Amino acid sequence: MFHCLNAWKNNSQVANMTISNNNSSQVMQQQIEKRLLIQHLRSITEALTTTAGSDVVKGLTQIPKTLPPRYFYDDRGSELFEQICELPEYYVTRTETAILQECASQIAEITQECELVELGSGSSTKTRILLDAYQNLGLPLRYLPIDVSAGMLENSAKQLLFDYPTLEISALAGTYELALQQLPAKQLPSRMIAFIGSTLGNLNPQECEMFFYQITQALHPGEYFLLGVDLQKPKHILEAAYNDSQGVTAAFNLNMLEHINWLYNGNFDTAQFEHFAFYNEAQNQIEMHLRSKQQQTVKLNALNLSVDFARDETIMTEISRKFDVETIKQQLRAHNLETQTVWTDKNNWFGLLLCQLQ
Ligand code: AVJ
Repeated sequence: MFHCLNAWKNNSQVANMTISNNNSSQVMQQQIEKRLLIQHLRSITEALTTTAGSDVVKGLTQIPKTLPPRYFYDDRGSELFEQICELPEYYVTRTETAILQECASQIAEITQECELVELGSGSSTKTRILLDAYQNLGLPLRYLPIDVSAGMLENSAKQLLFDYPTLEISALAGTYELALQQLPAKQLPSRMIAFIGSTLGNLNPQECEMFFYQITQALHPGEYFLLGVDLQKPKHILEAAYNDSQGVTAAFNLNMLEHINWLYNGNFDTAQFEHFAFYNEAQNQIEMHLRSKQQQTVKLNALNLSVDFARDETIMTEISRKFDVETIKQQLRAHNLETQTVWTDKNNWFGLLLCQLQ
């Protein structure tokens, strides 16, 4: 069903390079590339241009209109997301980082020798806290980052290899679904899949169930799942986090249209849309939309698609669900994922759950 296009750094090529013109940075480069493998994953359906973008067509032709959040993350979008993580209103990253700093050594002590698979690794900044903890216990370091942004993946991997001389990386560029089905064979006694940053919030309840099932299929009994979830809290705190005063979140949201233009030869005019985010209390979720400032028609030429917008009509680009620890523990348990430990901050704003497949 799925096809894998390998575009890896070829180890033998590195080994065969002549040493006559070596300088120290070249040696360094070679040592890094020997510890790096990057695979680019594509599903057959996506590799065939006829059906690429079918999710975009589906989302833009239904009412209300939607687009999948993964389209945020082209290189520019990944960069804007890194800026969001630093915003004073966006407590999410800061809070989770503080929790990780407190509990990383306990995690390493519990799991012992364990390879770290990370879904949506991005810049891998928080991952360093975990790697440090394993390193401090003298445990071997093996990391399998997975991200849809191949550029981000490669840059972060090289930086990590430079900073952690014993680290080995096997990176997968592609979606979680594909990557979870194609994880390379385990090389250490155990494995931990980390899904931190509350990206789980992007999945609706049904997608969430499917995702947990995929996690259980990718793990063996006794292996670990580390899950970071943003918790329910007062509306004004949540709404400020998604409507920052510097407009970075607005730029991040609008950038999705630029990404879609680039991918599918479209003519979205970002000046004709505006960022709109609010907390839906009934569903415990932030909803991010792009609202059409006027009546307009947008064309996506590569998809042979013409989309009409009424004035004030919106495209929902993201849900960011806010969780309750007890409920999520029960859902995990229903999938045989038993929560061993929960860590949280003093305000109970964010939760980190370490689970083990039974
Ligand atoms: C990466 C999905 C966790 O939902 O908070 C940040 C993305 N969107 N600001 C989130 C996001 C707007 C983020 N996640």
